[in-house]
Amino acid sequence: PKVAVIMGGPSAERDVSLSSGRECAAALRDEGYNVVKVDAGPDLAHQLSDIAPDVVFNALHGRWGEDGCVQGMLEWLRLPYTHSGVLSSALAMDKEATKSVYRAAGLPVVPSILARKADVCAAHPMQPPYVVKPYNEGSSVGVYIVQEAANGPAQLGDDMPDRVMVEAYAPGRELTVTVVGDRALTVTDIITEGWYDYSAKYEVGGSRHVVPADIPQDIFDLCMDYALRAHVALGCRGVSRTDFRWDEAQGQAGLILLETNTQPGMTPTSLSPEQARATGMSFGALCRWMVEDASW
Ligand code: DAL
Ligand code: MG
Repeated sequence: PKVAVIMGGPSAERDVSLSSGRECAAALRDEGYNVVKVDAGPDLAHQLSDIAPDVVFNALHGRWGEDGCVQGMLEWLRLPYTHSGVLSSALAMDKEATKSVYRAAGLPVVPSILARKADVCAAHPMQPPYVVKPYNEGSSVGVYIVQEAANGPAQLGDDMPDRVMVEAYAPGRELTVTVVGDRALTVTDIITEGWYDYSAKYEVGGSRHVVPADIPQDIFDLCMDYALRAHVALGCRGVSRTDFRWDEAQGQAGLILLETNTQPGMTPTSLSPEQARATGMSFGALCRWMVEDASW
């Protein structure tokens, strides 16, 4: 079968996507697929029509590639594609919409508000410490932390959209769980010097991953259960990865969901491939599973 790996694109996570795409394309080639790498441009529909693939492997991250836009185009072209569909992608990319779905599913989140950028820059929108996030980016792009009131409100640049999410800062450990189909793989504990920002995510040695996480069994099980429920509640397909914060001091009550990634990173430092390997699934097998699971 012919697989078009779509990657790159115009989002803030372009470089991450190029890395994911390269890894997946190479693995799928080794698995025996006829692979065409596509740097997604504005004429992506034409690019794909010319290639006429059997399956589109979506290695895009961030806006347009992870938020339902490209998924809608692929539906229109009647091309089977990997990962989640239009609505799930759109819901999961919008951090506030995600939380509404989590709440409706009885999954724990920290208090947050949607606000206008100008208001957030003018006065503290809530008691610090809090985090200001673009409502629609990944890889911690644009995330701004206000530690204490004396530091003044956030100073947000032009790269921040007008609509932002302000979230009470949730202290604690960073945990994550990948779901493959109807199976939660394992829990990873991500250990960083500061917080898990863009460089900690993608520089080799930027963070240390303990997999399976060395945490109490009840917390481990709760993470696995929550990740699967989040995947189902959002209507995800294929692979997703749900990120958590766990405040040890509070036991089970200290575990909250941050977000679900419908296009989890597939780079050499990424978490999902590592979790797959830890459960006996090679990178190639994971990519193959995704292609076989593709639909529209
Ligand atoms: N947004 C990046 C790709 C991730 O969640 O892995
Ligand atoms: Mg993300």
